[in-house]
Amino acid sequence: MKTPIKKFTKMLHGGDYNPDQWLDYPDILKQDIELMKKAHVNCVSLGIFAWATLEPEEGVYNFEWLEEVINNLYKEGIYTVLATPTGAMPHWLTEKYEEVRQVRENGVRNLHGGRHNFCFTSQIMREKTRAIDTQLAKRFGNHPAVILWHISNEMGGNGSDSSCHCPLCQAAFREWLKNKYKTLDSLNHAWWTKFWAQTYTSWDQIHSPVSNGVTTVHGLNLDWKRFVTAQMVDFYKEECNTVKKYNKDIPVTTNMMGFFKCLDYFKFKESVDIISWDSYPSWHGEEDDVNVAILTAASHNTMRSIKKEPFLLMESTPSLTNWKSINTLKRPNMHMLSSMQAVAHGSNSVQYFQWRKSRGASEKLHGAVVDHYGKDDTRVFKDVTEVGIRLESLTEMIYKTINKPKVAIIVDWENWWAIDDAQGPNNIDMKYIETVIDHYKPFWKMGIDVDLIDMEQEIDNYKLVIAPMTYMMKEKFGERVKAFVKNGGCFVNSYWSGIVNETDLCFLGSFPGIIGEVVGIRSEELDAINECYPNSIIYNNRSYEVKDLCDLIHLQGAKAEAYYEKDFYKGMPALTRNEYGSGLAYYIAVRTKADFNEDFYTELIKKIGIEKNMNVKLPYGVTVSKRCGEDRDLLFVQNYNSDSVTIELDKQYEIAESQTTISGKLELAAYDCVILVDKK
Ligand code: GLA
Ligand code: ZN
Repeated sequence: MKTPIKKFTKMLHGGDYNPDQWLDYPDILKQDIELMKKAHVNCVSLGIFAWATLEPEEGVYNFEWLEEVINNLYKEGIYTVLATPTGAMPHWLTEKYEEVRQVRENGVRNLHGGRHNFCFTSQIMREKTRAIDTQLAKRFGNHPAVILWHISNEMGGNGSDSSCHCPLCQAAFREWLKNKYKTLDSLNHAWWTKFWAQTYTSWDQIHSPVSNGVTTVHGLNLDWKRFVTAQMVDFYKEECNTVKKYNKDIPVTTNMMGFFKCLDYFKFKESVDIISWDSYPSWHGEEDDVNVAILTAASHNTMRSIKKEPFLLMESTPSLTNWKSINTLKRPNMHMLSSMQAVAHGSNSVQYFQWRKSRGASEKLHGAVVDHYGKDDTRVFKDVTEVGIRLESLTEMIYKTINKPKVAIIVDWENWWAIDDAQGPNNIDMKYIETVIDHYKPFWKMGIDVDLIDMEQEIDNYKLVIAPMTYMMKEKFGERVKAFVKNGGCFVNSYWSGIVNETDLCFLGSFPGIIGEVVGIRSEELDAINECYPNSIIYNNRSYEVKDLCDLIHLQGAKAEAYYEKDFYKGMPALTRNEYGSGLAYYIAVRTKADFNEDFYTELIKKIGIEKNMNVKLPYGVTVSKRCGEDRDLLFVQNYNSDSVTIELDKQYEIAESQTTISGKLELAAYDCVILVDKK
């Protein structure tokens, strides 16, 4: 089992700490260390937004305070995750060098302020970043307390579309395109620019897509988004290279944001040593906690699947956020449950934003381990301490385990962008991520682990690959699917698949393009239905209501397993099964209410022999996630109901922390998580 953090083999427990805000309050800094020890905190993230304190004037560095804090913490056994401070720029930088500030799509340059307001193309920004990162790395890269580099903070999180439309970025975009397409002819063809007289006759005519300019060339829109990710990765890599120069053994990470649409996180795969992300689920809101749990689980799985290795929960709130419309406190037990959920899905940490509430400015009321009250006798402090103690007791067991799903669902950012951009059957919301989650939901309910991967990852190690709405069918993915099914894999595809290639040109011939032969059907039309045209399908003698999208398909080798029941397409196939090589491929032609997916996948996993993590029928709101070890697996049994539930266990297990055996009934309190050991 890989441990990318060589110096530190514990579960990380701590989080964002901003002593730079408290340098005039020495008593508070002292108190922090005492409180951290009480809360079983073993590491903190330092320096995240400290550029103005670290470099108060250009080229003048003020690191003494940081060194002192790092040393004082280290003396007490608390390690440091050290940030590069590029999340927010100091005034001297934005004042002196205008080009470092981003330009919005309307062509207006931003003023100073906010986060990630820097142009990632600007050479000056890169030079100034290199300078501060070099100083930090020289001074702290070999400090025994520093275990991990935290590059910048939530890259791309500028509150807009992550991009900068300045002249430097326009020029860099053109270079990027030249490199990709080589000739204007090939770009014009790939983008189908003869439409509305948009043929480019010079590279200089190309401008980023903006609402008062070109918006209808989808190839351009897609490439701009790809460029934004590529530029961001490039900026990020420069930061990594700078800090690694002084000690290549300290791994790098950057905190991601789950389903953050602006950045294709899978493109960071090669340059991040350990994935980390910030998770802020809306517990106890309008949405049922069970649905919140499913979305959060899918987000953890997506982040884990980028590298298919354990990741770090870099931020979470110990109590509430302060940036949602309504910021509700975590109910009793929820802090433990949501922390254990992250661990269950592959996290080797539980980290918080924030250790202590700032005294002023916009995050002074955001949840923190330590409140303005300043003491440890609070509900939140107790909750956090309990998590710290539990992580300590589990460390040995957990470090030796990893999630090993046999099922993968495709979630691909470029496909997501393309689906939302296309003017097509439904221009309000094609619900791509929602659809992905709908396919994940039955597995969560059955207690089966799933990876969520993009179209560029290998799929050979899975038994079942589900590709909902693969509107953009990437050629290599198509080839991989063919080989996978030929060799015995099971593949599930859905409506609105195989419509366009990677530059958003429709496939000529028939849909779903290159995988038509695998699924054995041809799709002729897609209907976007509304309340006036209700429809349903019949499957296994049961009728299921459909919604939103209905694909009218013809069998080309596949067999129908369900049929439409109404309208002019009554009797046409709605679900098909095709034998291809030694495998099976299904095509779900219609979007249904959740019960269909549940029934369909429950049968499918039996047919193809995928085991549940625990062989029991789980009550509503309960799931089981598994981290596999060499001689034992860890089962995280989680109850997202606000009432207690009882499960009839299928065999004898051990309770992880107490090592006592348990069989028969397992009672879970409201929002409870019990960790069981399954010895092989
Ligand atoms: C993000 C940021 C933090 C903080 C929190 C508040 O995750 O990285 O700096 O602003 O949000 O929830
Ligand atoms: Zn720019």
